[in-house]
Amino acid sequence: MARECYTKHKREYMKKLIIGNWKMNLNMQEASLYLHKLSELIPAQRTVDVVLAPTMLTLQSLSLQVNRRQFKLAAQNSYWRDQGAYTGEVPAAHLRGIVDYVLIGHSERRYLFMESDKETRAKVQSAVRNHLQPVLCVGETASERANGETRDVLHDQLVGGLANLTADELDELVIAYEPVWAIGTGNNATPDDVKEAVRIIRHQINQLFGARATKEVRVIYGGSVNIDNAQSYLSLDQVDGLLIGGASLDAHQFSEIVDMAYKLEGGRAS
Ligand code: 13P
Repeated sequence: MARECYTKHKREYMKKLIIGNWKMNLNMQEASLYLHKLSELIPAQRTVDVVLAPTMLTLQSLSLQVNRRQFKLAAQNSYWRDQGAYTGEVPAAHLRGIVDYVLIGHSERRYLFMESDKETRAKVQSAVRNHLQPVLCVGETASERANGETRDVLHDQLVGGLANLTADELDELVIAYEPVWAIGTGNNATPDDVKEAVRIIRHQINQLFGARATKEVRVIYGGSVNIDNAQSYLSLDQVDGLLIGGASLDAHQFSEIVDMAYKLEGGRAS
């Protein structure tokens, strides 16, 4: 699947990506109504990728409702085997054709559901195998930050999540820097925190996969993003977009944030 970007080797032209992670909110009816509302507020345009990540159950019906020139869909998780006796799981193989992206290794998966780097890696590989764009989430906890371990945590999560991939397979990869202490707390990272984390992430990608992969991978920020702070991240050259939880459930905030990204890109509605 070819990702749209204007010029493959120039970071300044990477297309911004705004993902709304609805987490375990909005049932089928609510999700459908909310999608309808968003589609009235956010025009179809080519300069920002706007992605919605509803619950697994609602994905299929929303995929029939959504205008894919306006919004793409993401799964919040997927299983790494393609089929078999794995009660309750949904594989990336079944999400093909329904979603374009899949979130992998979200901190709620890592810390509430005890997902390991090994599982995360297998999930990234299954997403790539099934032509979905993985959004690998990485980030340190408050205590890791307090102990000065952010660099090591990012290193371990990136190596753990991406080992065995080739540089070509990274073309579609998105990395979301989501410090755990910033998620759902209102305690968002400062733009300087984010710049430094993105620098570490790109350095690590460069070590693992070389310069071309480093330029092409999109790195986005998530953690208490809202209408008041979104611009401060979107205007950073190093940051290719946002992964938004709570504020993505507020149509006004979400559409305004998309509009900010759209204006920064200087794009036109199609
Ligand atoms: P909040 O924006 O609610 O902090 O959530 C961030 C997040 O976890 C997105 O995946």
